[in-house]
Amino acid sequence: MAIRKSTIEMVQTGDVTRPRAAFARDPATAAYYERRAAEYDEWYLGQGRFASRERPGWRSELDRVVELVAGLPAARTLDVACGSGFLTRHLRGLVVALDQSRAMVALTQSRLPRGVALVGDALALPFADGAFDRVLTGHLGRKVGSAGQAPGGRAPVSLSFARR
Ligand SMILES: C[S@@+](CC[C@H](N)C(=O)[O-])C[C@H]1O[C@@H](n2cnc3c(N)ncnc32)[C@H](O)[C@@H]1O
Repeated sequence: MAIRKSTIEMVQTGDVTRPRAAFARDPATAAYYERRAAEYDEWYLGQGRFASRERPGWRSELDRVVELVAGLPAARTLDVACGSGFLTRHLRGLVVALDQSRAMVALTQSRLPRGVALVGDALALPFADGAFDRVLTGHLGRKVGSAGQAPGGRAPVSLSFARR
């Protein structure tokens, strides 16, 4: 899956400078993920267009990430921008997953028999404070800048490993 390159625009609010969340508001990016949802896992699995890519250590790094997610104690967890649910499915406890792409949400729901996957906006989460014990974001934080505070004020678990 080719990655769209974007320029990060900075926004000043009082003393704080942070990146504008252009990625997460960009209609072209939204259309891209919707279109490519069925192929998204090829990036993780080294299949399709990624089959010929040299990625030393990729498999063991991925295994460690999956192990980390699977090893989190069972909790009420919100996965923000869940994508295809590749990581979401390893969460334990009550899991709610959210993504702006309907196709991604359908894939995640198929992998989440005891959880719920919803279409929604990561930048305007439709949940009350305290609704979750944990928030997970995978490969989103680097694109939108700081993931900020999770609903309820807890710091999110943000996973990201280098795209290659
Ligand atoms: C790089 S993928 C990461 C998917 C998954 N978290 C993972 O780690 O495999 C980025 C995902 O963010 C979603 N996304 C981007 N902006 C969003 C927004 N404003 N609200 C909800 N989802 C968004 C895209 O639809 C896409 O599924």
